[in-house]
Amino acid sequence: MKDKLSRRNFIKTGIGVGAAAVLTGRKNLLNAEAREGKMCSVSSGNGLRATKKAMELLNQGKDPLDAVIAGVNIVESDPNDRSVGYGGLPNEEGIVELDSSVMHGPTHNGGAVASLRNIKNPSKVAKLVMERTDHALLVGKGALRFAIAHGFKEENLLTDKSRETWLKRKEMLSDRDFWFPPKKKIDPELESYFNNHGTINCLAIDAAGDLGGVTTTSGFFFKIPGRVGDSPIIGAGLYVDNDVGAAGSTGRGEANILNCGSFQVVNFMSRGFSPEEACLKALEKISDKSKLLPRLLNEDGLPSFGLRFYAINKKGESGAASMWRGGRFAVHDGKENKFRPFAFLYERKR
Ligand code: GLY
Repeated sequence: MKDKLSRRNFIKTGIGVGAAAVLTGRKNLLNAEAREGKMCSVSSGNGLRATKKAMELLNQGKDPLDAVIAGVNIVESDPNDRSVGYGGLPNEEGIVELDSSVMHGPTHNGGAVASLRNIKNPSKVAKLVMERTDHALLVGKGALRFAIAHGFKEENLLTDKSRETWLKRKEMLSDRDFWFPPKKKIDPELESYFNNHGTINCLAIDAAGDLGGVTTTSGFFFKIPGRVGDSPIIGAGLYVDNDVGAAGSTGRGEANILNCGSFQVVNFMSRGFSPEEACLKALEKISDKSKLLPRLLNEDGLPSFGLRFYAINKKGESGAASMWRGGRFAVHDGKENKFRPFAFLYERKR
């Protein structure tokens, strides 16, 4: 099937027989390299359960996209993860709105949903957008109707804990409204949610060297309703090129959307950089461009926001990097499932 498809593409694009032979040869070479390499799954710091699950499924010979989606579904369904799916922190009106994208290496196909309400596992809906429509991205009410048509059940995604956090924040926003301030004025947990976000990205490569990736999030905590981050934007929050590698991101989506970050990471890998180097190079570019927007800079003229990239190359090597020092990401290398520290661009002064 794969061969038939590629033959048809060669005819359609008018590439001659000689060129086709060269390209097919290159692909076989890459696949041979991958087979010498290893299976691997990489995820953000909240994704150790996701990489474990993904590797279990890769070991059973499952498709790498199915493997990573099953991995992130654990975190999407966990009410205690405040950054994704059920229990995710809501928008400024107290409503949880979810974004997700998926990308399948072997078919170079993808799907995404944005501002999706009332559905716990947006990554599953994103995969159906890929499989059951001619579109790449569905948003808002259309995405919800599409999910319901496919049998997804609507449910309230706002847990009591997230509702209380949202309410406390609302009460402390202003002393010029009718809401009394919360009894405890300084609440470190609540402070950590201001101007913050969370997301899970998970990538995998299987024994045949095929790649898959998913990114899923509830986005910026207390965002303006309808705000869409980088997670559902193919090329920004996720990108997979089955000939090269896969990349995804967590962190400030706006900076990433404006720089097509995950695409950049894969592009750097295609130029020979390791996954970690490629993540750092993309961050460097974003940092440079951000310097044109003074409101994004700290007192030292450096980006004041956090952004992280995760990557796997065709050989099954993985890496990740963060704009700022700190934190860790999850990697299952086929033998061990563990956290590794991020490479980083900048270190905060004490
Ligand atoms: N990276 C997640 C977001 O900005 O929504």
